[in-house]
Amino acid sequence: MKTLVVYTSQTGFTKKYAQWMAEKMEADLFDLKDIQNADSSFDEYESIVYAGWLMAGKVVKSNWFLEKAKGWKGKKLALVAVGASPNESPDVEVELKNMLIDEQRAYIKAFYCQGGLDYDKMNLASKLAMKAFAGSLKKSKDEKQREMGSYVDHSYDISDIKFIEPIVAYLQARNVA
Ligand SMILES: Cc1cc2nc3c(=O)[nH]c(=O)nc-3n(C[C@H](O)[C@H](O)[C@H](O)COP(=O)(O)O)c2cc1C
Repeated sequence: MKTLVVYTSQTGFTKKYAQWMAEKMEADLFDLKDIQNADSSFDEYESIVYAGWLMAGKVVKSNWFLEKAKGWKGKKLALVAVGASPNESPDVEVELKNMLIDEQRAYIKAFYCQGGLDYDKMNLASKLAMKAFAGSLKKSKDEKQREMGSYVDHSYDISDIKFIEPIVAYLQARNVA
């Protein structure tokens, strides 16, 4: 069973998850920017996973995957979001809900993996946006929001290889005919 892992990553967390998944499943691994213009149907793959980092609740470049997936309905398909929120954050549930519409949910499964923040590797626009977000949270009247502001005001890494387990299990499960 051949598996393809495609990813988009700015600061490395999503790339790391994609590498972990590819290693575990002996899958082919590509950065989306290297294959997005390729004229391939990806016929040889039985399972395809797209992993992208979350920006303002959206999985970056997921449109590429969602468009292609319309022609891949016979394959096992997973869309993975990597974000800065811890898995148990209520935001994650909302993000998972918004990643796919009902029709897509019939043939694609959505997952979330907690990543982190790396201010040293962010581009300037991202850094400014995150610093502004952290600053506004820190000014909030709500103590929880202020705590959150302090949390996202610095770099941290909460990624762990264990979070790929449900994704691998889903992709490798045999379809019952
Ligand atoms: C502008 C911006 C918006 C972001 N929005 C979200 C978000 O909505 N939810 C979230 O969990 N993380 C959000 N993040 C955090 C990134 O998704 C997180 O740092 C992720 O681990 C980056 O992955 P990468 O290292 O593969 O680029 C945002 C980061 C930036 C810079």
